[in-house]
Amino acid sequence: MTPAMIASVETMLEKWNGQEGQEIEVFQEFRLLTSEVISKTAFGSSYLEGEKIFALLYKLKILVSRNMSKTTIPFINKLWKSADLLESEKLAKGIQDCVMKIVKKREDQVVNGEADSFGNDFLGLLVNAYHDLDQKNRLSLQDLVDECKTFYISGQETVNSLLGWIVLHLAIYGDWQEKARREVIDIFDCMVRQMAWQEQLQEKYSWEKRFADGIAKATNYTAAAFLPFGLGPRSCVGMTFATIETKIALSMILQRYTITLSPAYVHSPILILTVRPRHGIQVIIEPLRT
Ligand code: HEM
Repeated sequence: MTPAMIASVETMLEKWNGQEGQEIEVFQEFRLLTSEVISKTAFGSSYLEGEKIFALLYKLKILVSRNMSKTTIPFINKLWKSADLLESEKLAKGIQDCVMKIVKKREDQVVNGEADSFGNDFLGLLVNAYHDLDQKNRLSLQDLVDECKTFYISGQETVNSLLGWIVLHLAIYGDWQEKARREVIDIFDCMVRQMAWQEQLQEKYSWEKRFADGIAKATNYTAAAFLPFGLGPRSCVGMTFATIETKIALSMILQRYTITLSPAYVHSPILILTVRPRHGIQVIIEPLRT
């Protein structure tokens, strides 16, 4: 998982090469990065293979956000369907077809003898459960498709927003940015000696003063005051994935560039399931002077 994340960030940074002093729309950059990472790590495919699913899911998300606060009368949907509902059914069918194509590809690899199992990534585990010989444990087609949809959406969208808003804050607050960079550089210095950077990052990464003495202190020991990943048995299964991906991306960026906010940035957050910047996040990057 981690090497795939690093490789994807490398690819993104290669694209930034030569764009020093120019404006970069980082929200879009992180959209591509997070799409590529979840496609590779969970589905063993490239962003291009999942591209259509992401596009359909995005349209579906807009419809969901638009209709979220509308009241529906039970059973009326069976008699009359709004244009949005018809469109969302069409999109859901399109997503199902795309997911099934990816599943079929995985199944064909086993049938054709190119692989001896469905694999042990997220998709492989789902396909295994879909073919479980024990009917009681077998995953239904609907569940298989729904699980894939959840992972495509939650695996991409959340980290996209997290990275985007963090970079915006770092671009505005140069002192936080410098502090974060200092920590990254210190940790990587340690890493050369200890080769234990992940644990180090986990322990030492506390940028903002508010969290400098830990979350418990920052929330005045009120556990429910800061629950970015939920709580209890249904809490986020992607928490570690998301934090590792974010730390990798930020630490690689901070080691190479200083970031300032572009005058073109217009602050206009909009809620489309998650809070997104309506006009993107434009920053200017400069290579780090060593
Ligand atoms: C910054 C990143 C993320 C945040 C803030 C976040 C937040 C959350 C929250 C608040 C929940 C609901 C927990 C509850 O009901 O109490 C959740 C559930 C979930 N998240 Fe995340 N998440 C993030 C990243 C991810 C990623 C990267 C993945 C997948 C790779 C993921 C997969 C899921 C799934 C599958 C659930 C449903 C768990 C269940 O119902 O059993 N999330 N997430």
